[in-house]
Amino acid sequence: FWTEETTCPVVVQQSSFVSVWNICPTDPVCVCVCVCVLLFLSVCPPLGLESHRVEDDQLLASSQSHHGFVAQRGRLNMQGSDNDEDMYGGAWCAEPEEKDHWFEVDARREVEFTGVITQGRNSEKHEDFVSSYYVAFSNDSRDWTHHIFSSGSLLQLFYGNVDKDTPVMSQFATPVVARYIRIQPQSWNGSLCLRAEILACQLPSTYHSENEVNPSDELDFRHHNYKEMRQMMKVINEECPNITRIYNIGKSSQGLKMYAMEISDNPGEHETGEPEFRYTAGLHGNEALGRELLLLLMQFLCKEYKDDNPRVRRLVDGVRIHLVPSLNPDAYELAYEMGSEMGNWALGHWTEEGYDIFQNFPDLNSILWGAEDRGWVPRVVPNHHIPLPENVLNGSIAVETKAIVSWMERNPFVLGANLQGGEKLVAYPFDMQRALRETPDDAMFRWLAMSYAHSHLTMTETHRGSCHGDDVTGGQGIVNRASWKPVVGSMNDFSYLHTNCFELSIFLGCDKFPHESELPLEWESNREALLAFIEQVHRGIKGVVKDTEGNPLVNATISVEGIRHDVTTAAGGDYWRLLNPGEYRVTAKAEGYTPQTRLCLVGYDSGATSCSFTLVKSNWDRIKQIMAFHGKRPIRLVTKANVRERERGKQ
Ligand SMILES: *[C@@H]1O[C@H](CO)[C@@H](O)[C@H](O)[C@H]1NC(C)=O
Ligand SMILES: *[C@@H]1O[C@H](CO)[C@@H](O)[C@H](O)[C@H]1NC(C)=O
Ligand SMILES: *[C@@H]1O[C@H](CO)[C@@H](O)[C@H](O)[C@H]1NC(C)=O
Ligand SMILES: *[C@@H]1O[C@H](CO)[C@@H](O)[C@H](O)[C@H]1NC(C)=O
Ligand SMILES: *[C@@H]1O[C@H](CO)[C@@H](O)[C@H](O)[C@H]1NC(C)=O
Repeated sequence: FWTEETTCPVVVQQSSFVSVWNICPTDPVCVCVCVCVLLFLSVCPPLGLESHRVEDDQLLASSQSHHGFVAQRGRLNMQGSDNDEDMYGGAWCAEPEEKDHWFEVDARREVEFTGVITQGRNSEKHEDFVSSYYVAFSNDSRDWTHHIFSSGSLLQLFYGNVDKDTPVMSQFATPVVARYIRIQPQSWNGSLCLRAEILACQLPSTYHSENEVNPSDELDFRHHNYKEMRQMMKVINEECPNITRIYNIGKSSQGLKMYAMEISDNPGEHETGEPEFRYTAGLHGNEALGRELLLLLMQFLCKEYKDDNPRVRRLVDGVRIHLVPSLNPDAYELAYEMGSEMGNWALGHWTEEGYDIFQNFPDLNSILWGAEDRGWVPRVVPNHHIPLPENVLNGSIAVETKAIVSWMERNPFVLGANLQGGEKLVAYPFDMQRALRETPDDAMFRWLAMSYAHSHLTMTETHRGSCHGDDVTGGQGIVNRASWKPVVGSMNDFSYLHTNCFELSIFLGCDKFPHESELPLEWESNREALLAFIEQVHRGIKGVVKDTEGNPLVNATISVEGIRHDVTTAAGGDYWRLLNPGEYRVTAKAEGYTPQTRLCLVGYDSGATSCSFTLVKSNWDRIKQIMAFHGKRPIRLVTKANVRERERGKQ
């Protein structure tokens, strides 16, 4: 079935049988041979240079051009810092004077090597990459044998990169068993710099090594593209119809739906007194781990609920959980097509229209901070629920962002997190830079971030630094975003300033798109953290605000003394205020009612303290009624309080 147009399903541009491949079109018998060779070409998973599963002391090189370009910088997708002179270069780069350069990886035990992926240097200015190389193997790092053509004894030269960003894979015609592997660059563009990943399988004898996990949960550990994700969610919905509901929050610019799974004992409705929680993933389509973790979490919650796991029962019965695995489905499809190793660092980051969704929200920080500087908060400008500036959504805002904004406004979310990748830490707001970066709820945000980072199996193991440089978290796995990598218009800042919801960013790991074989380990590392973070929605106080006749008061304000950030009540008059343990003076206010203040105690036990309010109609409201009754004739009654009320009436 060979035609000139048939393309090879696996890119093997430099393998020994390329020559065979090329004569195929004219020789039909040959087709079978080619196909067979391809089928037997085994592809092993990455050893873990990118994911940092391969540790720094497993990487070695013949030399380095500068102390910032050591072998440890030669991991696939490593990001250098913008400053060329500091310690963090965007690749391993060799000393130019030296001959016979090599980059070595010690697998620590004999493995079966099947291929190499190379990439050039991450740099704004330089176009450095290796265009051809030899590969050599050893069992003791002294005696090296080269990879030779399977047919003869000629040293095989592999073709490398043609630019600095795109990874290129070379597969070996036959797997090689050894402990050490060396890449020996033969030609390069610019300076000799490279980043790499090694493909290798564990041998059966060492199969049950320390790195292997036998996942305790029987779940579907695969990457799911758009169709498969939809199918997966459908299956979960069919298996647990009583506690799940699929809906979508809108469409991407290419018309793909942004699906959400609701998990709750009464799906489809907000129950008065039950807090709402959200996890979102895939704001950047190439950060694919969060998507799979949320699909795994759905499966897990469904399965464990049916098995009467008491913790999961409590969670599902007590929280309305929304899980959105893919907020940028168009971009995910791009990254998915390239596969887990072959996309570069940026492919699939932006939406089809070129937006970075995470930082595409209206900037309410500037409005609040400007008003604070003028002393207008909270009298003129509120310290919460800052309204959207007029026509802001007509501006340069992605359709996906608009859908998320309207979803945030429709549901009374209390707590949420967006799952991202490329680093391993939890970042909490404010995300935008300001002299004082703390939110009024800084202590609470730190606690929330800790609850994830410290429940994760490895997030606080930061002694080796972060993915691309120094540890920025002080060993805690958490960081204030503004002091780390400030951004304007982030989802977290917007959520905090425009709604009741506290939103954080969870960066799941160095490898944005881990290989499928990594998913069981990632699930094990994150499972407890994913559950523990949802449980934090029950920390603090909650209650209902009603009038004396028992009618719920919607949109009443709940203020906590000492914290300049209020929350409001939902449709059932119910509210939730996330607070650390302590004693708080809490005031409920509603238009036309006399404010009421109560002392509310938050203990260390799980479960929010109940703290409800019954508000009495204010005198001023009664006076207004009397005035209306008297035909709006002026009544001489001038006090400070009613001047304020009148001013407020005008606004
Ligand atoms: C390493 O040792 C194994 C046997 O344990 C052998 O099969 C393999 O060929 C050796 N590899 C090299 C590169 O010498
Ligand atoms: C090779 O490097 C030079 C500069 O050293 C650069 O101008 C050129 O564009 C690079 N070649 C390619 C194919 O990128
Ligand atoms: C759903 O709930 C009904 C009654 O509430 C129960 O009879 C049924 O078994 C439940 N179905 C599943 C799949 O749990
Ligand atoms: C913004 O969009 C709304 C409808 O979505 C429209 O009514 C309004 O005129 C638009 N404003 C501007 C300035 O384009
Ligand atoms: C809630 O109250 C604010 C003022 O406190 C008002 O601007 C807003 O329109 C109200 N929202 C609803 C849904 O009533």
